[in-house]
Amino acid sequence: MSIVTLVGTQWGDEGKGKITDVLAAQADMVARFQGGNNAGHTVVVGSKEYKLHLIPSGILYPGKTCIIGNGVVVDPKVLCEEMQYLHEAGFSTDNLFISDKAHVIMPYHKVLDRLEEEARAAKIGTTGRGIGPAYVDKYMRSGIRIGDMVNRERFRSRLDDILPLKNRILQQVYGHPGFTADEILAEYSSYAEKFSDRVTDTSLLVNEAYREGKGILCEGAQGTFLDIDHGTYPFVTSSNSTSGGAATGLGIGPNRITQVLGVVKAYSTRVGGGPFPTELSNDVGDLIRERGREYGTTTGRPRRCGWFDAVMVRYAVRVNGLTGLAVTLLDVLDMFETISICVGYEYRGKRLTEFPTDLEILQECEPIYVELPGWQQDTTQAQVWEDLPEQAQNFLRFIADEVGCPIQIVSVGPRRDQTIILREIFSKVQ
Ligand code: GDP
Ligand code: IMO
Ligand code: MG
Repeated sequence: MSIVTLVGTQWGDEGKGKITDVLAAQADMVARFQGGNNAGHTVVVGSKEYKLHLIPSGILYPGKTCIIGNGVVVDPKVLCEEMQYLHEAGFSTDNLFISDKAHVIMPYHKVLDRLEEEARAAKIGTTGRGIGPAYVDKYMRSGIRIGDMVNRERFRSRLDDILPLKNRILQQVYGHPGFTADEILAEYSSYAEKFSDRVTDTSLLVNEAYREGKGILCEGAQGTFLDIDHGTYPFVTSSNSTSGGAATGLGIGPNRITQVLGVVKAYSTRVGGGPFPTELSNDVGDLIRERGREYGTTTGRPRRCGWFDAVMVRYAVRVNGLTGLAVTLLDVLDMFETISICVGYEYRGKRLTEFPTDLEILQECEPIYVELPGWQQDTTQAQVWEDLPEQAQNFLRFIADEVGCPIQIVSVGPRRDQTIILREIFSKVQ
């Protein structure tokens, strides 16, 4: 069948969890390829809302294989808690597999994340989950991998090697007491017991599934503008949340990926620091926040809100090679008389149509808006394109034209049945 990669096109929280869950119905495997529990993916089934941070959003269907790939950083405590949360809610995690090559978030990573953020003048607004420091150690070659952690001797030997320097940094730079190998070993061994039988070479599983013609969905976390390379650096996360991350983060060839679906809100939000050209620090922004319940899934922080920015999404189409869009939260705009879309930036008297890579330029950019008439009707019951008011159809057509990518899915509410599929993603004939 096909491998579909799903990515966020803005600053995260685009509704990736919901769209993943919807598409998972037709897929055989759902795989996370980067990030960690800084992500917060919401899935609503019936009247129940589930929040997943680490385990793929396909887990709510029985029988789907779920993968935590090598590109993910795993907090074992959070993994155990999330497995427990799912068991208590009546879901099985028997089909969950974790890459032996995924790196482990250690207690000192979480402490360092907080202390380093405190020391920064320009705050990134990190979720403080230890993600950045864990990736630093991975690239520094001082990381501990899941495969090391589930082997007690190897875990101790890696810790004995790594911990003394970590403690010197914690104690001498930050005045923190540091950690003992014994306390970490005791705590982490109790987690390892709960999932060591799930640890394997997940690249093999994904490639086997591909060879067998199965449908595989790669679930991105964060969004294009939080990507370590392509985002608004340094106000980004520490991994490649763009589509290229799926190949390295799962151990599949990039040529195996058949489609790249970009999830995009009908407006924009950002949580944490950094530039945001179309941000609305006024009643309109507040209204979007209240209607969209725009409060962080992971940290509960109010999200910054603004109009749809076609310049950004055009860039996302380019750097991800998007083949289609899933437009979410359309219903949040239901009651606006007019809706603005940013189609370019004005910078020192010039019109920019491409997203500037220089943050100083970006900070000076003023959005150029096109105003479209709103539909002022409820869209939450729409099932097919024809159910959408004409103005909503025009808004969607305008977006697709401006960003240069077709819309495949429109979401008009958090539930599974509030989804308009314009083109099937997992077609049976490939
Ligand atoms: P993710 O991180 O990309 O998975 O997104 P989050 O789960 O953090 O945030 C998206 C929020 O919007 C969640 O509360 C979803 O339940 C909700 N949501 C998703 N799609 C829609 C939609 O079309 N309409 C509305 N009103 N809410 C939606
Ligand atoms: P999902 O997958 C929104 C933001 C943080 C901060 C920056 C760095 O739910 O879309 P980090 O903890 O990685 O050091 O934080 O990135 N951030 C997110 N914002 N959605 C997310 O994930 C995010 N993950 C990280 O707010 O600004
Ligand atoms: Mg989220």
